[in-house]
Amino acid sequence: MKPVRKAVFPVGGLGTRFLPATKAVPKEMLPVVDKPLIQYAVDEAREAGIEEMIFVTSRGKGAIEDHFDIAYELETTMADRDKDLSILDGSRFAPGNVSFVRQQEPIGLGHAVWCARHIVGDEPFAIFLPDELMVGTPGCMKQMVDAYGRLGGNIVCGLEVPEDQTSAYGIIDPGAADGPITEVKGLVEKPVPGTAPSNLMIPGRYILQPEVMGILKDQGRGAGNEIQLTDAMAQMIGKQPFHAYTFDGRRFDCGSKSGFINANIALALDNPELEPEVRAFIETL
Ligand code: UTP
Repeated sequence: MKPVRKAVFPVGGLGTRFLPATKAVPKEMLPVVDKPLIQYAVDEAREAGIEEMIFVTSRGKGAIEDHFDIAYELETTMADRDKDLSILDGSRFAPGNVSFVRQQEPIGLGHAVWCARHIVGDEPFAIFLPDELMVGTPGCMKQMVDAYGRLGGNIVCGLEVPEDQTSAYGIIDPGAADGPITEVKGLVEKPVPGTAPSNLMIPGRYILQPEVMGILKDQGRGAGNEIQLTDAMAQMIGKQPFHAYTFDGRRFDCGSKSGFINANIALALDNPELEPEVRAFIETL
């Protein structure tokens, strides 16, 4: 079984739910406490042993490339002033371990993933939607990669949501379950309310086999008139092992305003330096 060495970060979306904040700043660069969302996702990938990061960007997302580049002026000035440079550690890559491809039209997550096909090549790969902030010890992808070591095939993260929210997500038709592992019998993107096969949604973490790229090539448009990754994954079921992994940890949907605010509050309260002041302030409210 080939190991998971590559991660795709589709960051080509428009982030319309967060306008006007995301007019000139990519959604993925919004900070939770002191780190942009995208860096949480990259840190999670590194923790899972992933070496090669592939970003699928679009017009206006240049700040993401700059964030992960060497900042000579900043670093030289900080060094001259004896400032601690280790604070920048997570924002750099070894040369050759990062690539950027451009999605020229935002026509769906499936299309964004397909744009990375030449760099992914013929090996299994992880996908991270960085606006889904997954907080756990170990991290979500590390838990999934460990499960992949036992199961192989395709693994998506699975998370239960209230019934009335299923129409917003890719939903799993579940088969037999064994602890955190559930067999996937089918997948449906944004089911019409009342028709969802379960309340198990996919919160933006995937380990897929490269064959999905061949399916995406011919994938027509689905829900929302977009080329959906869920529809392509659904075609792999029955041909390759396909499981969902229930992550042990917390998830924040930072693509929504309330999820983003909740993440900032929760992670500030997790931070020993900030916690007393933030908690005291919340109590005054
Ligand atoms: P979302 O559904 O959150 O879309 O995409 P969005 O454009 O980012 O945000 P809203 O809904 O307009 O506020 C889920 C993920 O898929 C990526 C997004 O960047 C995000 O990480 N995506 C989506 C693409 O890379 N390309 C697309 O064409 C669509």
